[in-house]
Amino acid sequence: MLTRETLEVWNAMGIGPAWILRDAPDPMFEGLDAQRFARREDKRGAASPTPRTRVEPTANSAPESRVSGAAPSPAAARVAPLRPVSPPAAVSEAPKTLSLPEGAEAAIAAADWSELRRMVESCSVCPMSATRLHPVFGEGEPGPGLVIVGEAPGGEEDLQGIPFVGKSGQLLTAMLEAIRVERKRDCVILNVLKCRPPHNRNPESGEVACCAHYLRRQLEILQPKTIFILGRFAAQTLLGLPDEGFSIGRLRGSIHAVETAGRKVPAVVSYHPSYLLRSPDAKAKAWEDLLLLEDAMRSAGVRWGAAADSVRAEA
Ligand code: URA
Repeated sequence: MLTRETLEVWNAMGIGPAWILRDAPDPMFEGLDAQRFARREDKRGAASPTPRTRVEPTANSAPESRVSGAAPSPAAARVAPLRPVSPPAAVSEAPKTLSLPEGAEAAIAAADWSELRRMVESCSVCPMSATRLHPVFGEGEPGPGLVIVGEAPGGEEDLQGIPFVGKSGQLLTAMLEAIRVERKRDCVILNVLKCRPPHNRNPESGEVACCAHYLRRQLEILQPKTIFILGRFAAQTLLGLPDEGFSIGRLRGSIHAVETAGRKVPAVVSYHPSYLLRSPDAKAKAWEDLLLLEDAMRSAGVRWGAAADSVRAEA
């Protein structure tokens, strides 16, 4: 029997993440039981004419498949379905071209923070709006000088409507704490895509092109002093890079500039935490990136940790 302790030992040894058979509640997520999935499925089933199966990877395997683009292991394919099966390909197919409805671009560009949140929550521009459980607008409100940008919600983020709460989110939280950044107080966390790509597939260029309008407006409103860019999709989107011909390995280690609202904001690029879960050897480099981020924040006058507390106490 696979227990929480076993998984924790595997993870501590750096040999996680692992796929597990979903014939019992995931021991890493005691609260995330089959009943909860079933309730969600019922809710969605009522709105959808086609019954769907939710075959979930463990939270820690989801990012792995997204980053590598690898198909789930044969073990995952044997998972007992909660509902009658529809072919995964049908929900995984990404549209190659997408465009915002007329006027939407201008409306996004003029929205304030809460209007923008409402727009994201009701967005139906791409088919992911039909497969998501929750859109994930972001975590945090305007105020902090640090903004962190990831790729797209995974399974747990889709369930909770909050970014980076799955296995890679837990790693991100620990990484930030290592430089005394408390995620609920000292930063705002965003993703390029606001909805979960089915089966955690990679974002398509059309999806990024549409969804990035929300991200750009979020940055204009937030006016960050420093940006921490996680992984290739966020780097590509924020630094305007081509589809191919760049690597995180080459982007990391220097300060980049993200243009927003007529300003150039210093930005540090690092590996996506889900890559770090797969490649623990890269954690040493991620630590260097965190130290560079800390320097960039200090140079840009960002206040965090105890300094942020004292500013709030004075206000
Ligand atoms: N990976 C991301 O890039 N974003 C999330 O919110 C979760 C996992």
